[in-house]
Amino acid sequence: MKIVVFGFGTMGKLLCDAVKEHPHLDLVNVIEPYGRDEHQMVSSNLEKLTPNFDVMIDFSHPANIQMILSYCTAHKKPLVICTTGFDQAAIESITLAATFIPIVLASNTSQGINLMHQLLRRAIQALAADFDIEIIETHHNKKLDAPSGTANSLLKTIQEALPEPYRVEYGRQGMAKRTQKEIGIHSLRGGTVVGEHTVVLAGEDEIIEIKHTALSKKVFVKGAIRAAQFIHQKPAKLYSMEDVIQ
Ligand SMILES: NC(=O)c1ccc[n+]([C@@H]2O[C@H](COP(=O)([O-])OP(=O)(O)OC[C@H]3O[C@@H](n4cnc5c(N)ncnc54)[C@H](OP(=O)(O)O)[C@@H]3O)[C@@H](O)[C@H]2O)c1
Repeated sequence: MKIVVFGFGTMGKLLCDAVKEHPHLDLVNVIEPYGRDEHQMVSSNLEKLTPNFDVMIDFSHPANIQMILSYCTAHKKPLVICTTGFDQAAIESITLAATFIPIVLASNTSQGINLMHQLLRRAIQALAADFDIEIIETHHNKKLDAPSGTANSLLKTIQEALPEPYRVEYGRQGMAKRTQKEIGIHSLRGGTVVGEHTVVLAGEDEIIEIKHTALSKKVFVKGAIRAAQFIHQKPAKLYSMEDVIQ
């Protein structure tokens, strides 16, 4: 299977190495965003890319998404989006593009986080009436987006499992008690932490914590490759990592 990698930062480089070493994958090109102008408009060598590949994997920056979607829909290429930090308009563009091409949108490609979503659904259904819910995520000091894309997707899973929507409190501060129907979400940044996500369910005299720790960025690379293998020759649709890891 022929792969194009979009983005040559930390993750893009690790992914390229893994694709090169993989017995069934062939790295045909790497697209590097460049030339940001004063309006932060990005260009890249994407226009020159020959569409002789099977799947594109994006590990870059949200600023590149329109360019990537335009290319992949024009050339009918399956896409794995691993970048995080998209706004609502970008999510809508991705959803629209997925009516023309297959797309995996995965804010976290690790196997463990995807199991965490399943455990969380069960825990919320069983405990939400009596337990307060807080999300804590910790990442390295170079991470741009906060809360992390994974924390946002855990939040979405919790909201979907609740009988009614809860208010979200980002980085609690001030002089007010928490209310019962709210979810606290807190981002810590420092050092070289690869990624930690904890959902705390705190009840009267007991606490349950569901926690995932990524010890190496290799877990994300492995999952991105798995997503690319999954999406190759799938029909147009927006897929999640839970579709990939069943
Ligand atoms: N899905 C997952 O499991 C997972 C796991 C880890 C990370 N991620 C996400 O993957 C993305 C890349 O992470 P990373 O650690 O590789 O980041 P990185 O080292 O900062 O690399 C980011 C890439 O995007 C480009 N870029 C940076 N700022 C840009 C801008 N303003 N406009 C256009 N392009 C820009 C960089 O180009 P230059 O080198 O020219 O700046 C580089 O190619 C992030 O969104 C991160 O949150 C996802």
